[in-house]
Formats: sequence, C-alpha cells, structure tokens
Amino acid sequence: MFGRIDHIGVAVEDLDAAIALYETSFAMELVHRETVESQGVEAILLDVGDGHVELLRPLGPDTAVGKFIARSGPGLHHVAYAVDDVDATLTSLSAAGIRLIDAEPRVGIRDSRVAFLHPRSTGGVLTEIVEPAKGH
Ligand code: CO
Repeated sequence: MFGRIDHIGVAVEDLDAAIALYETSFAMELVHRETVESQGVEAILLDVGDGHVELLRPLGPDTAVGKFIARSGPGLHHVAYAVDDVDATLTSLSAAGIRLIDAEPRVGIRDSRVAFLHPRSTGGVLTEIVEPAKGH
C-alpha cells in the first residue's frame, strides 16, 4: 500500500535556525520553499536520499501546526508515506476502519495530493499519505 517514506514533517518556530541545522549542519539540500495557505504553513523541503524532511512554520497560532507547537513545542509532527493513488488508498484505509482527517485529498506542497489520517487510529502518529506530482 505504501511505497516508501516520502518525508517526515517537523514543526518549527524559528525557520532560519531550522534551515541552518538541516542545510548547514546536516548538509541536506534545500529544494523547495512554499507557503501552503490551506495547511496554514510555510513549508521547506530538503532532500535526504530518496526522501525529504519537511520543515513547517505555522502562519499563525490558530493553525494546526501553531496549535501543535503551543501544546507540544517544536519537534516531530508527522510521517508521510508515498502512494501511487491517494484516492484509492483513502478508500482502502477507510474501509479498514482507519479514521481520516481528510475524507478527500487536498493539494499539498509541490502540487502533490495529500490526506491526513487521524492519530487516534494510527497509534498516536499523525500520518500523511502523499501522491507526489509527476516528476517528484
Ligand atoms: Co507533510
């Protein structure tokens, strides 16, 4: 069902400090930067092997990531698995009894199509499935 880990999402307060850590100290290449209004974040993608690290800076305190940081502090936020067909995967997961945050996929970073699964049905791990846009 899941092809590979596409990325891990990390909630950050200080984006410049986080970029310095990942780009400079960890020598990962920063490959994309985008404001995703629908998710209330400024997102940075860095390459690591075939996968990515996604740094997420909330656009405000009332966003999902803003609330996460207020509750838990900055840190690991979600894991994202790559799938070939996000619609079919959502249908399968729903049929298997997995609780969905997104009943329908939405547009994610770099024109991917994404959906989140509820951590209450995934052992406490906020889980994203992502169908990357062609070429990514
Ligand atoms: Co993500």
